[in-house]
Amino acid sequence: LQNGLARTPPMGLLMIEGSELALVPFKWNSWNFFACNINETVIKETADALISTGLANLGYTYVNIDDCWSKVTRDAKGQMVPDPKTFKSGIKALADYVHSKGLKLGIYSDAGKFTCQVRPGSIFHEKEDAMSFASWDVDYLKYDNCFNLGIEPKKRYPPMRDALNATGRSIFYSICEWGVDDPALWAGKVGNSWRTTEDINDTWVSMTNIADLNDKWAAYAGPGGWNDPDMLEVGNGGMTYKEYRSHFSIWALIKAPLLIGCDIRNMTAETKEILSNQEVIAVNQDPLGVQGRKVHSNGTDGCQQVWAGPLSGNSLSVVLWNRCMQAATITAEWNVIGLEAGTSVSVRDLWQHEVVLNNAVASFSAQLDAHDCRMYVFTPQAALMGNVM
Ligand code: GLA
Repeated sequence: LQNGLARTPPMGLLMIEGSELALVPFKWNSWNFFACNINETVIKETADALISTGLANLGYTYVNIDDCWSKVTRDAKGQMVPDPKTFKSGIKALADYVHSKGLKLGIYSDAGKFTCQVRPGSIFHEKEDAMSFASWDVDYLKYDNCFNLGIEPKKRYPPMRDALNATGRSIFYSICEWGVDDPALWAGKVGNSWRTTEDINDTWVSMTNIADLNDKWAAYAGPGGWNDPDMLEVGNGGMTYKEYRSHFSIWALIKAPLLIGCDIRNMTAETKEILSNQEVIAVNQDPLGVQGRKVHSNGTDGCQQVWAGPLSGNSLSVVLWNRCMQAATITAEWNVIGLEAGTSVSVRDLWQHEVVLNNAVASFSAQLDAHDCRMYVFTPQAALMGNVM
């Protein structure tokens, strides 16, 4: 959607969302207990933590409230109302607080009769709800897909785009239709991002599957509209440090929205180190805005993988990803990552924060532990010498 927003993938924090529990049986009970447990204090403390941890300075600027912020029923005038028990000061006051910190506030609704947690949805109320969001100075809308009356997403999502545009306020429009009806094929004109898959959960299997499912839509992403393989699970405890580092590296390379999904008020040093890697973030935010892809795989079930994509200034980002159960040596050959045969490149390791080889030619290999990755920027010597095309 060319509304001036999302020139690079959005970075922020999805406060509370259903994905961790979405695959758990009896989802509703579990979810209601945990994921609806939000209130204005949590949101404010999270905004404070974005500042105090330095994450805001790195680009994580959106604080997004997910499901359960609103009262179960609309008011007598048909307006959505913040839940008086948990958001008693109202969303406008919260937006003012978040803005006073230099951050942005996101909110959530649904392109159906109810949200997934059975709060009011916005279908057939798009205009008045968009007006409410704009009058509260909201900056971002995540728009979900529950209770959708069987109407196809292609028809249900554009009315909210038009309603948001009509408010005159710049509001990032995040379409959350879970990949239904191949959104990459139509959502570029509707939203600033669109989900390509079902909900992620905090496991290696879910994360790797989603990376693969999202990959085929790469050609449709770019400034203004991004494929959304769902939020980050980094820091939620279900994966190892190496697995989370892989998750973050791949999400950065594939130009996914970097939406933190953990409790940043209580994160470990390892979680903070991963989420704060400026060199990896720079790949995600590179102005060229081309989604990197899986370009090579071999080994059992293709578990030894090379992912790569172009960056501005003629550089390339490259991830060597060992998805096997044991250590492996993985090689990026120039022809598969799109370099001319004789090109000599400098190889910078974005997790070691140093150039590990000045003049790699033809291929580059590394030995990796199970489920680990290495992330690099390859810069051709010619580009280093200033012959940037
Ligand atoms: C759906 C969405 C999740 C989350 C929950 C909230 O499952 O895909 O991201 O917003 O609803 O109920």
